[in-house]
Amino acid sequence: MSRVLLFTGKGGVGKTTLAAATAASLAANGRKALVVSTDPAHSLGDALDVRLGAAPSEVDTAGGLFACQIDPRGLVDEAWGDLRGHLRTVLAGAGVDELDAEELTVLPGVEELLALAEVRRLASSGPWEVVVVDCGPTAETLRLLSLPEAFAGYLERLFPTHRRVVRGLLAGVAGTGTVEKWDATADALSRLAERLDSLRTMLSDPSSCSVRLVLTPERVVAAETRRTLTALALQGIRVDSVIANRLVPSPGSARGAAATWLRTRRHEQDAVLAELTGIGEIRTVDHRASEPVGVPALLEVASQLYGSEDPLPGAVVSESLLEVSGSGRGLDARYSLRIALPLADDTDLDLARVGDDLALTIDGRRRLVALPSLLKRCIVTGAEMDAGGVTVGFRPDPKLWR
Ligand SMILES: Nc1ncnc2c1ncn2[C@@H]1O[C@H](COP(=O)(O)OP(=O)(O)O)[C@@H](O)[C@H]1O
Ligand SMILES: [Mg+2]
Repeated sequence: MSRVLLFTGKGGVGKTTLAAATAASLAANGRKALVVSTDPAHSLGDALDVRLGAAPSEVDTAGGLFACQIDPRGLVDEAWGDLRGHLRTVLAGAGVDELDAEELTVLPGVEELLALAEVRRLASSGPWEVVVVDCGPTAETLRLLSLPEAFAGYLERLFPTHRRVVRGLLAGVAGTGTVEKWDATADALSRLAERLDSLRTMLSDPSSCSVRLVLTPERVVAAETRRTLTALALQGIRVDSVIANRLVPSPGSARGAAATWLRTRRHEQDAVLAELTGIGEIRTVDHRASEPVGVPALLEVASQLYGSEDPLPGAVVSESLLEVSGSGRGLDARYSLRIALPLADDTDLDLARVGDDLALTIDGRRRLVALPSLLKRCIVTGAEMDAGGVTVGFRPDPKLWR
């Protein structure tokens, strides 16, 4: 399995440029690297100054750099087109109204998911040591990162576990052929669900996958960056660096209108970066006079971005999202569960106990956290939030405690 580096951030901040620069630099240092675009607004070919197709092709024979762009539309037609057709037939056969059937078979975000599943396939089957991914804009990417979970729920609703019961039911109400179609569809869907499941595993395994968040130093970004970091942490996805792109050069002691403009701009940019302290180290890249296009220019960007460091840090051991501590004995014991998440002051947080899980909703994004077995036998006593996360208090449930 190759290491996967996902570049994300708002539109136009420099994701494509920095993803391409990183891959070029990895390749120039003797690593077999593939850079893939999953952003429907493909511009990877422009940054590399080559034409790209859906299959990886060698961009730079000297450096051993490969690149491709995934066409999500094509993937959908291939993987989902037939399936949708079958599903509609099956649902119609089972007496579901045509319009409802139409609605049930439209899956939000399926394109992006399939594109990422394709990345996983390339990473697990290809000869590459690193696969660098030029992803779509943040909001979009985040939404899709939580999709495998949502999708599993959807499949469960559409295809209840008691498949045979439904099958029997169908045999009664629908004509011959429908049952066979149902079987084929259910099989295809479980294969799709498996693919999404392995995608999720890859995304949340810090030794195989991490995110590089790209931003430009502008006022609006600070709060949004924090939110993005929270949302990613909530999904168990590791951000290994934050990159501030397009920092204007400092004019030193030069005089004149242009120098004043630069000084003011740089001053504001530095202020924004200062606001972001506490989220870890931020790497910076200067705003260049010419757009960095083509491998040589990209390598210059990379050398500023990484200096003499390896652009691919060693595999990281997962920092634990959850930590349990406690004191006291028997029914008098008190436990607390620490969920580490970067949170802003105005973060909207909601907690609920759902069976053996804790449902955490942060700014509208929900994540189920499976409780450690000890806490399953406890009652929630309260919760506190600070900049570094949430601490939930528990005490033993007398009914379950033995
Ligand atoms: N550090 C930089 N200096 C100068 N131009 C840059 C820099 N980073 C990106 N650009 C240019 O800005 C535009 C947008 O960058 P791009 O990487 O395509 O952003 P994104 O992929 O986030 O939409 C491109 O024309 C690119 O060449
Ligand atoms: Mg781009």
